[in-house]
Amino acid sequence: MPDTLTPDTFTKLAYQTFQQGKQYFGLAHKTISSRIMNTVFPKPQEEPNPLTPKMMSLLQARMNALIAVDWQEAEAGVYPKSLLFENRWDDFFRYYPMMCLDIPGIWQRANSKRHQEFSTGINTEGYPDYYVQNFHHQTDGYFSDMSANLYDLQVEVLFNGTADPMRRRILVPLKRHVEKMQAQQQNVQALQPVKVLDVACGTGHSLQMIRATLPQASLYGLDLSPAYLRKANQLLSEDAGILPQLVHANGEQMPYLDNYFEAVTSTFLFHELPADARQNVIDEAYRVTKPGGVFIICDSVQLSDSPEFTPMMENFPAIFHEPYYRHYTTDDLVKRLEQAGFVNVTTANHFMSKYWVAEKPAGE
Ligand SMILES: C[S@@+](CC[C@H](N)C(=O)[O-])C[C@H]1O[C@@H](n2cnc3c(N)ncnc32)[C@H](O)[C@@H]1O
Repeated sequence: MPDTLTPDTFTKLAYQTFQQGKQYFGLAHKTISSRIMNTVFPKPQEEPNPLTPKMMSLLQARMNALIAVDWQEAEAGVYPKSLLFENRWDDFFRYYPMMCLDIPGIWQRANSKRHQEFSTGINTEGYPDYYVQNFHHQTDGYFSDMSANLYDLQVEVLFNGTADPMRRRILVPLKRHVEKMQAQQQNVQALQPVKVLDVACGTGHSLQMIRATLPQASLYGLDLSPAYLRKANQLLSEDAGILPQLVHANGEQMPYLDNYFEAVTSTFLFHELPADARQNVIDEAYRVTKPGGVFIICDSVQLSDSPEFTPMMENFPAIFHEPYYRHYTTDDLVKRLEQAGFVNVTTANHFMSKYWVAEKPAGE
């Protein structure tokens, strides 16, 4: 029992319990659904690498560390504690049954390796070939409203409720850089609101958290999926705060002026891009970032810094349809960022994710 019981102690316990609940829920969902599916539609392909008890306890320790950092940074005031309890409950109750009903289709698609299968009426014309995929065997890939409605839940289950805590790790470097740039602007007559762009904003999770962290900032989101942008718009409109400007565009050709944003972020995009597209997005991020601004990437861990997770990194593209993941895990993004012109590139790891913070030189 702690020496002093403060309201914070209860909030912390509530947060830990909330996360533990999500973890158990994710594990139960995956165990039950794969047992049923393995019985009904046995998998023709070989079993993935087994996860040893040692690896499972390492994973648990890393997950606990992530939750601890998440709490500490909220407690330090980087973002409001209410973010820790953010959950799209309406969507959960509405779409969880649909997500379960979607599992047999996903399973059969995975078993028969059908990776470019879309419902009638879906038009994939004009999109880059690499994008026209059933990523994660998702029904309709990123091309339908139903996919957008189910995506958040699928990610929650996949990561046992740690997707948002992983996304939130961009907030400390983001806030630090934005505050630094604002301090430098103090002498300028009218203090302009800072502009932050989230590339591949999906259904708007990162934007929601950035808005809570930097309520005065002008926020922008870009994505290639009109359906995901519609979902982001719906969800971001439900909460108070300035509505981010969302644009349907390719991150390889961003429709913004040079030197426009104080900060650019991107969460869980790069592992879904082929190598040349990764470089193009980085080059574009460099172009639209202001001198002295920052580009922050959050994505999966890589083999070079997390060799202990090699079996999991090998399993991921084998179990889910992730055609560019294997190359991503060996790709040197520091080199790519420096090639684009970024400097002072630092990296960090939290649980199953990795972060790159890259600065555009101030004198550019
Ligand atoms: C795994 S999701 C991540 C979404 C969101 N950032 C998150 O944290 O949940 C990948 C997103 O990248 C988008 N995307 C993929 N390729 C893109 C590209 N070339 N330009 C813009 N968006 C892209 C997809 O439409 C999808 O919304």
